[in-house]
Amino acid sequence: MPDAIAYISRDTDGQLWKKALEAALGPIDFRTLDNLGDKADIEVALAWKPPAGLIASFPNIRLIVSLGMGVDHLLAEDELPAGVPIVRIMDDGLVGQMSEYAIYWALRHHRDIDKYAASQRTKQWKPEEFVDTLHRRVGILGLGTIGQDTAAKFAALGFPTAGWSRTQKTLPGIETFHGPDGFKRLLARSDILIDVLPLTRDTRGLLDAAAFAALPKGAYFINMARGGHVVDEALLAALDSGHLSGATLDVFNQEPLPPEHRYWTHPKVHVTPHVAGATNPRTASPGVIENIKRRRTGQTLIHTVDPKSGY
Ligand code: GLV
Repeated sequence: MPDAIAYISRDTDGQLWKKALEAALGPIDFRTLDNLGDKADIEVALAWKPPAGLIASFPNIRLIVSLGMGVDHLLAEDELPAGVPIVRIMDDGLVGQMSEYAIYWALRHHRDIDKYAASQRTKQWKPEEFVDTLHRRVGILGLGTIGQDTAAKFAALGFPTAGWSRTQKTLPGIETFHGPDGFKRLLARSDILIDVLPLTRDTRGLLDAAAFAALPKGAYFINMARGGHVVDEALLAALDSGHLSGATLDVFNQEPLPPEHRYWTHPKVHVTPHVAGATNPRTASPGVIENIKRRRTGQTLIHTVDPKSGY
């Protein structure tokens, strides 16, 4: 019986995953990209940005696990083996980091911290105009696990908080919008817009010139989802015209962000290198272990991915 677990990622050496899995499953035949051995032995692939066609070349593969909560890195390559279930990690640690990231940058904007830093450099004692929390409306694109956690935390801080999702959702204390019409309405009331949508056929290029124009003047944009949602020229134009007051970008159409890209040096843009939420084997492994056990015993899987909807 094939029972090897292949760790398909260039981000880390996978040793923390091996340890976490072995603590629950006992000794495992753990393979890495540089040491795949006989591909016929591989039963499970743990994957982050796998080389195109690689997983389809494992003849006995029975389970594909996305090491990211986003699965576009997997689905983008259309050569996945047909009929093999795909599940993704569901990582409380990652979810907490994501909302923490959004709150940090939103508060930094809300409390004018960058303006005070500039004033300090020129020794100016210059209080900025204060905006009441009750008047700073936060809008969140995407109300999955990450969006809901982020929304609940902003609401707890007292910000009027709304969220948008593809299908209708009802959440306590959060105003919700859905569908194309709801998208425009969400934008029109978002002084701080936070993107946590998955990247799918429907969301690629969603944030174009019309979307940025629909935001209130002076709005701030935080992207901790996928760069593919953003039409970069439209965002730069909205920043340059003064319609947007600034943006924090963790994700980009091209990663690493090329050195010549304007985002690096734009005075209104903060850039971070796709670090808003990092997969942590300690918090992500229990769900993966559960799915490996379920697959081996023929039970229904959890955190499954629907390749048709793209998440
Ligand atoms: C990170 O980008 C993830 O999808 O988990």
